[in-house]
Amino acid sequence: MDLLPCFLLVSLVLSSSHLVSANFYNDFDITWGNDRAKILDNGQRLQRTLDQSSGSGFQSKNEYLFGKIDMQIKLVAGNSAGTVTAYYLSSQGDKHDEIDFDFLGNLSRDPYVMHTNVFSQGKGNREQQFYLWFDPTADFHTYSLLWNPQQIIFSLDGTPVRVFKNNENVGVAYPKNQGMRIYSSLWNTDDWATRGGLVKIDWSKALFVASYQSFNAQVCSTSSSDCSANAWYNQAALDSGEQQQLEWVRKNYMVYDYCSDTKSFPLGLPTECTR
Ligand SMILES: *[C@@H]1O[C@H](CO)[C@@H](O)[C@H](O)[C@H]1NC(C)=O
Repeated sequence: MDLLPCFLLVSLVLSSSHLVSANFYNDFDITWGNDRAKILDNGQRLQRTLDQSSGSGFQSKNEYLFGKIDMQIKLVAGNSAGTVTAYYLSSQGDKHDEIDFDFLGNLSRDPYVMHTNVFSQGKGNREQQFYLWFDPTADFHTYSLLWNPQQIIFSLDGTPVRVFKNNENVGVAYPKNQGMRIYSSLWNTDDWATRGGLVKIDWSKALFVASYQSFNAQVCSTSSSDCSANAWYNQAALDSGEQQQLEWVRKNYMVYDYCSDTKSFPLGLPTECTR
């Protein structure tokens, strides 16, 4: 696969009424938690659990350098307070790059918080947090990352919620030189996750289960020199409809934006915030 300039992980294209998905056996390794993470349905679905002794996690077999990556996730239902389901891209080593979705659990009927962040060359502190406009535990929803040399777009069910632009021209590092893998984990974070750590995990509600399906990705491999034939690779901005959707999300569902947090940045907001 490394010989191809750009490859498609989507191996099955079924009729329009079916989901297009790759196979978890081919694309992912379960890396911790032993049998708490399981691949099911001939590779179509992956399920992870958390119990009192351990969480669980998986990672992609391959590293990618740019991609359009969709994953359907169904989050821990019921009382998920104190748990975090993390789904992210990351490179290795110090000065790493990382693009994060973290889902902070909550008491039954209280809303999940979706926490996002972008690290470039080891520098993070770019959190934005959102409530969701759907119940992420009732059904699968599609969480997408479009990552190309111009921008990173986070989307939910096709609605963009966050854009991080390449602002290298004004000295802001942008993730574009290090290959990243996909990682996901489900773990106990009741020291901080829910209401700042006040609400603890209720272990009588274990097992906590999160499920994944319909992984669908168009990615460039780290050895590729040219992915430029792909429309997703060249997209440099949102179109006006997407821009409106982004504004709707920011207005109605955003709960935290580092770009308005003047307390955390007393010496001035990060450069990209003023662009
Ligand atoms: C949990 O629910 C409370 C009450 O609605 C809310 O303030 C909080 O933002 C929610 N999420 C987390 C992760 O604490």
